[in-house]
Amino acid sequence: MIALRPLMPHDLPWLCAMEQSLQAQPWSLAMLEEELRLDAWGRIACSPAQQPMGYAIARRFVDELHLLTLGTALPHQRQGVARHLLQALVDYAQAEQIPFLLLEVAASNRPACTLYQDMGFRLLYTRKSYYTLPGGHGEAFVMRRELMPDKPV
Ligand SMILES: CC(C)(COP(=O)(O)OP(=O)(O)OC[C@H]1O[C@@H](n2cnc3c(N)ncnc32)[C@H](O)[C@@H]1OP(=O)(O)O)[C@@H](O)C(=O)NCCC(=O)NCCS
Repeated sequence: MIALRPLMPHDLPWLCAMEQSLQAQPWSLAMLEEELRLDAWGRIACSPAQQPMGYAIARRFVDELHLLTLGTALPHQRQGVARHLLQALVDYAQAEQIPFLLLEVAASNRPACTLYQDMGFRLLYTRKSYYTLPGGHGEAFVMRRELMPDKPV
């Protein structure tokens, strides 16, 4: 079973270590602290034993909720953790009547692209040379999911 709870300051060392191990361009501790200070939406996915398994952070920009970072610890991948976090993000946006969810993902990140497509995000446009990768620069997909307030999604 996956339980979600709000991101708290004591999660930051774990979160920073996760960013370093999972992400091609990890967020620094200072960046994560700033998101907490700005009261961003943040959730930690935990096991029944309260062990952190995954995380998501998003922030509102007018009528869009931007997914800033998302990750699942390696031993817990492919168990529905990210799907659970994204569904919570959708629920939050709907409750707040925010019409759009937006994110950027490296075009080469097949697991994440598959996940986002599966969760109803669609390609809005491509950004060339957006990510700095070991082999050079990589494209980013900007993806969006529209939430209709009066319709089930
Ligand atoms: C991308 C990531 C967050 C997915 O997390 P996860 O908890 O393993 O994902 P879930 O188990 O919820 O998977 C949901 C769906 O996403 C897709 N998916 C997830 N991992 C996948 C993989 N390795 N290959 C193909 N599809 C994948 C599948 O459609 C999956 O559904 P299914 O298991 O029923 O087939 C995880 O692989 C990760 O942390 N990657 C490194 C960090 C990262 O890339 N973050 C996103 C940056 S934008």
